[in-house]
Amino acid sequence: MESTKPTTPIDGPAYSIKKGATFWFTGLSGAGKSTLSEAVKKQLDSMLGDSRKCFILDGDVIRRGLNKDLGFTAEDRAENIRRISEVAKLFAMSGQLCFVAFISPYAKDRAFGRQIHKDSELPFYECFINSPLDVCESRDVKGLYKKARAGEIKNFTGVSDPYEAPERPELDIRTDQLSVDQSVSVILKQLLDDGIIE
Ligand code: PPS
Repeated sequence: MESTKPTTPIDGPAYSIKKGATFWFTGLSGAGKSTLSEAVKKQLDSMLGDSRKCFILDGDVIRRGLNKDLGFTAEDRAENIRRISEVAKLFAMSGQLCFVAFISPYAKDRAFGRQIHKDSELPFYECFINSPLDVCESRDVKGLYKKARAGEIKNFTGVSDPYEAPERPELDIRTDQLSVDQSVSVILKQLLDDGIIE
């Protein structure tokens, strides 16, 4: 019986991943980390023609599962970020693009993530999802700032707990000034400029 399989390949995806990498989104609650990671993934899924190449690790989600034993003390946040750094590294090692969306308020914890990627020669991009506190607080999408100001949530980042802004991030994305599409373009440009995708 004659095969119906085409003899020439059908058009493949326009882009492919040349090297796994981690994009580490850090910023205040409400700065846009989750929104931007989802928007970048949507765009990349279409460019790569496969929704399994690009993975998001999101604080709110991971804290309901893998890290549900952790709270918001400095020690617990450090452990949260340590575990996520290791998981992100595994994704990057497997040749995927990993987008990490955690407040990750302490520079030393983010530096750990950077170091273990460097040790394995994997690209690591610290992306400051940069929106001023008053803008994040005025959005207050989840009503958490209001609760924090009322003292109902302790150790709330930016209100009653520190946020150490990155000093030399690879990308500084002013989400209070750029649209989501413009912010996505900044990430895509970096991926293309560095040959992470081609
Ligand atoms: S951290 O600092 O990186 O360990 O935090 P992360 O894992 O990203 O979790 C942040 C989300 O938890 C909610 N939440 C709090 N955030 C900050 N401080 C306190 N005390 C707190 N309690 C609960 C909040 O919804 C954060 O989600 P995002 O998406 O950042 O708003």
